[in-house]
Amino acid sequence: VGEADLAGRHVLVSAGGTREPLDPVRFLGNRSSGKQGYALAAAAAARGARVTLLSANVSLPGPAGVDVIPVATALELREAAVKAAPEADVVVMAAAVADFRPAVYATGKIKKVEGEEPAPVALVRNPDILAELSADRTRPGQLVVGFAAETDQVLAHGRAKLARKGCDLLVVNEVGDGKAFGTDTNEAVILGADGSETPVPPGPKEELADAIWDQVVARLG
Ligand code: PMT
Repeated sequence: VGEADLAGRHVLVSAGGTREPLDPVRFLGNRSSGKQGYALAAAAAARGARVTLLSANVSLPGPAGVDVIPVATALELREAAVKAAPEADVVVMAAAVADFRPAVYATGKIKKVEGEEPAPVALVRNPDILAELSADRTRPGQLVVGFAAETDQVLAHGRAKLARKGCDLLVVNEVGDGKAFGTDTNEAVILGADGSETPVPPGPKEELADAIWDQVVARLG
């Protein structure tokens, strides 16, 4: 690349995985390391963008020149995203957001009781942040990019998800069996709401990040 083709643009990226607390010591979470989202933020900064990174439970160093905002839960991520989105020319949701959270937060550590079965954990739905940001855009020309982590029928599920979420681009990556989560490499297909389909072969997460920004730059007014 080497071009400042995102100069003058403000981009908002989410990375990592949300954690939904059950009690002060336990949570429901996922295996996201934040590497893909951090690679996206670093690549955008290298291409001249002003970058805000919403970082959910990531233990990587913040990329140089990037404004990192830590969040923990899906509700915190939603609040930070809704606040920052109106200023952003591009929003990329690479974070793995928990679809559900425990219905009840126990303020004291849940104890095992001798001779009693554990109580079932009731869950409630978290808001769909990507769908909300896609529907409620206030900034003219803003592009919204989502991800889809799928274990099977990757393209079919990706197309359906793109339509359902209402974003402009959806990056479909296969997960499970040691793929994508926590690794240094990734492989994906970038689907466009315009019908485009751009396969990105296996390679470093930095390469997928640049391929995504290439698709974004081609669509920015
Ligand atoms: O962090 P790494 O270890 O590098 O791994 C990268 C990754 C596999 C986490 C990443 O490439 C990825 O796929 N991120 C999205 C994971 C995910 O939550 O996928 P999903 O198919 O469940 O969600 C689809 C999209 O909706 C995502 O853009 C997600 O951010 C968004 N979403 C999901 C649920 C929800 N309640 N709100 C959302 O905004």
